[in-house]
Order: sequence, then C-alpha cells, then structure tokens
Amino acid sequence: SEKTLREIRDSLVDIARNAGQMMINADPSVCTSDTKKNTSDRVTETDKAIEKMVHSRLQSAYPNIDFLGEETFKVGQKLSDKPTFVCDPIDGTLNFIHGFPNTAVSLALTVAKKPVVGVIYNPFRGDLYTAVKGQGAYLTTASGRTHNLPIRSTPAALPSLNGCLVALEWGSERQGPNWDLRTSMSQTLLSSRSTGGAMVHSIRSSGSAALDFCYVAAGQMDLFWEGGCWIWDVCAGWCILEEAGGMVASANPGDWRPELEGRCYLAVRGAMREEQESVVRELWGLMGKRRF
Ligand code: IPD
Repeated sequence: SEKTLREIRDSLVDIARNAGQMMINADPSVCTSDTKKNTSDRVTETDKAIEKMVHSRLQSAYPNIDFLGEETFKVGQKLSDKPTFVCDPIDGTLNFIHGFPNTAVSLALTVAKKPVVGVIYNPFRGDLYTAVKGQGAYLTTASGRTHNLPIRSTPAALPSLNGCLVALEWGSERQGPNWDLRTSMSQTLLSSRSTGGAMVHSIRSSGSAALDFCYVAAGQMDLFWEGGCWIWDVCAGWCILEEAGGMVASANPGDWRPELEGRCYLAVRGAMREEQESVVRELWGLMGKRRF
C-alpha cells in the first residue's frame, strides 16, 4: 500500500543517513581498495561494510523482501517479480577514493521489476533525494533551507539536443567497442553542426550514475546517456526521475521501454512528452549504426 511504501522510504532514508556517516567517518586515503576488473574498477572496505550494514538492517526490518546489492551480486543473479531491495553502497567509488565529493548511497525497492521507492544520499554535500511511485520526488539539503522540496518543477522547454547539458560517464572498460562508442559519441555530441555533430552546450562526467539521474531529475542536466552500468547504479534514480516528470529510454536506438536490468539508459529531464521524445530521436539518430 502507499502507506507501506512511505514507511519503507523512511526506513531507507534512515539507513542511507547511517551509510553516509560511515562514508564521512572513513578516511579514503587510508581505505584499502581492491581492484575488480582493472585498475579503474575499484571497491573499498567501506563499500563492503556499508552494504553489510544495509543488508542486515533491511533483513531484520523486512525479512520477506529480497535483497540485491552491488558487492554481493553473483553473476547471473536476476531480479524477480518479488519485492526486492536494490543497494549500491557507494556509487562513485572512484570519487570516494579521491575525496571528490560526488558520491552517494543509492537504495531502492522494486516490485514486479519496476522501481517504486528510491533514496539517494550524498553525505558530503548533504543532499537527499527521495521518491515513492505516484507520490512525487523530493530534495532535502543539509542547510535545511530546502526541506522536502518537490522536484517536479514546471518543465522548461527542451527544444533540441543543441543547447543541452549532457551527462555521460566513462565506465571502467577503457578499450573495446563500448569504449569506442563513448569516445566517438562524445565527439559527435560536442562538435559543431557544420561537422555533422550536435554541439550540445557541453558534456559532464560526475562519476556517479545515481547522482546523474538526480541532476537530470532536478533539471540541472538535460540528459544522461550511459551503456554498461548496472541496476544498482540506476534503480533509485529511475524512480526519482520519473516522479520528477522525466523519462527513461534505452541508450541504444529503438527501445522506448528499456528494462531495469538492460544496462543501457537514456534519462531525459522533465519537459513536454513530444519534446522529450524528439530529443531522444535526435540522439539516437546521431548514433547511426553505433550500439552499446
Ligand atoms: C559506477 C559509477 C559510474 C559509472 C560506472 C558505475 P560504482 O558505480 O556510477 O558513474 O560510469 O559504470 O559502475 O562502481 O562507483 O558504484
């Protein structure tokens, strides 16, 4: 029920604040970090400790709800239709290691493989984004000046790709076809129309896909285009974005209703539906035959 979802949101907020305190207390410069696939794909002791705390708190409060977390994920594990908590203990681990304050804990609940609650908290800036399906998206800031501010803003026009501020991440694969696509698309997006590009205002790589979704939800960025990230990177952000009037299509052309686990996402900020769709078509058009 709606009340249950609001209670779950409140639990997730409480757990996210606890996780944030663990991030602040950890000294990333002495934090051991292991490499996963390569030297830019990293995990710290803090990632693991936070996921452990989140998992145990959720398990005791909601023993009947499944759990899927970045650090305990097993290859081949799939989201089921059953209610499931999805956890990224630290999204933006590289930022965390470097002390760059764009790092967040991202917690979500899915039902029938759709996100219905999303909570994203960046403890270094004190920004807390929350959403419950059908009940809007909200931002609370550390200063207290913004407390549960609805981020369903009156959507400004989104006339074309030209003039957009686009979030695009580099991921941890630094060779191969996905890498080629990121680098060539960056060039296409940035270069001027006379060379067949879009000349977007610029591109930004914040280092956290979860926060990129929040920035698009809040209308501070217009688009986020990414292939290769995982369900825990986007699940909470997806709920927040949709509740703020934004939409998600696939990063690859043709798919207007991508799956949560599809690993290809194009997030678009709130605007008139026709404008959102036309910008998606424009970006897909620039990809030509290129695909993630
Ligand atoms: C990463 C960040 C990054 C994205 C990567 C993700 P992590 O998450 O969201 O922006 O480009 O694909 O894996 O590893 O810091 O949780």
